[in-house]
Amino acid sequence: MAVLHDLGKIGVRETVLNKPGKLTEEEFAEIVRHPETAVRILEPIHFFRPLLPAILHHHERFDGKGYPSRLAGKSIPLASRIMTIADTFDAMTSTRAYRKAVPVADAIAEIRRCSGTQFDPDIVPAFLAIQSKIVIPGDVTLPEGFEEAIPAEYRPQLG
Ligand SMILES: [Fe+2]
Repeated sequence: MAVLHDLGKIGVRETVLNKPGKLTEEEFAEIVRHPETAVRILEPIHFFRPLLPAILHHHERFDGKGYPSRLAGKSIPLASRIMTIADTFDAMTSTRAYRKAVPVADAIAEIRRCSGTQFDPDIVPAFLAIQSKIVIPGDVTLPEGFEEAIPAEYRPQLG
């Protein structure tokens, strides 16, 4: 599902997706349509039907200010409430065309700050509890003792 939820971005112009500055109203309207576009694409495939509500509502906010339906609280599908935290964390810790990745500690602080407004306050603690196990692409921190396990002739020469 994590791969499919943004499938609808296929219908959003590249220049809008990668725009560095603020979006115009018209450009934002294009972005807002991506969950519905994903549902339209996946609907004919029987196998995906059970996932469609979760995909459609992955940009709803706990306070009801999200899109496309302005659902609030527990009326947002549970899978969407989980997905939106993971999706936001992933977005913040990834480098995009218009900005650099945010440090993990800052992304965690932001998730915490938005608990109860953007995110379900019952799910945020569960996310924070497992967050350290998430592998972040591009994070090249290697486990303790890793370098010693590499034969000397293949070790990177630093300095
Ligand atoms: Fe999305």
